Amino acid sequence: MAKTYSIAIDGPAGAGKSTIARRLAKELGYHYVDTGAIYRTVAYFMDLLGVSPKDVDGVERYIDELTIQIQYNEKGEQRMIMNGMDVSDDIRTQDISQKASLVSAHAVVRDVMLDMQRNVAKKNNVIMDGRDIGTVVLPRANVKIFLTASVEVRAKRRYDELVAKGTKADLNKIQEEIRQRDHQDITRPIAPLKQARDAILVDTSNMTINEVVTALLRIIKEKIPV
Ligand code: DC
Repeated sequence: MAKTYSIAIDGPAGAGKSTIARRLAKELGYHYVDTGAIYRTVAYFMDLLGVSPKDVDGVERYIDELTIQIQYNEKGEQRMIMNGMDVSDDIRTQDISQKASLVSAHAVVRDVMLDMQRNVAKKNNVIMDGRDIGTVVLPRANVKIFLTASVEVRAKRRYDELVAKGTKADLNKIQEEIRQRDHQDITRPIAPLKQARDAILVDTSNMTINEVVTALLRIIKEKIPV
């Protein structure tokens, strides 16, 4: 099999990981893998069954009944297939964001999802974003970036996104939800959100998307022949 390259981008919710990773993947001709979507799909599945994301026994009982496939459509967009059904749009709610953060804390969930993520990276050049890519999923990634921004900036970005879509939004509430999700993702015992020792920290608080893309391309080109 030909050698493949991998780029890991980790960081808290709203740091701009998916927007940036998508742009970089296009630029480099790599597969973009949004790993948060996997945990969102688990959360959505459990929600449909009425299982609380905190109920580890319930989650463990039903996880074997869930089959997740990651597919790419003709535009190269990642689609999440849950037991044969495309749920890519259903998993994007604020409610599922919180539930994904809770359900992803369970070892049984993380164990099942680990191989899936590694298999994609074995076969393709990938740029993968998440919370534990550089630390757990791809500890030997060729490039590791930890993308962050202040809570205030991240909340404002999410707020602007919602307002642009015509959705009513409350900035204080969004800030509170982001704080809570950060806390859950950072303090969980298994694969917490953490900067890998060999990851490069990029704070995007005062940067535009184009500036971040340019900065990361420079970092990537130093480490990977592109
Ligand atoms: O990136 P996101 O907002 O779609 O992720 C949703 C939740 O999934 C996040 O709060 C924590 C969890 N997650 C994780 O535990 N590990 C990952 N690699 C990606 C996401």
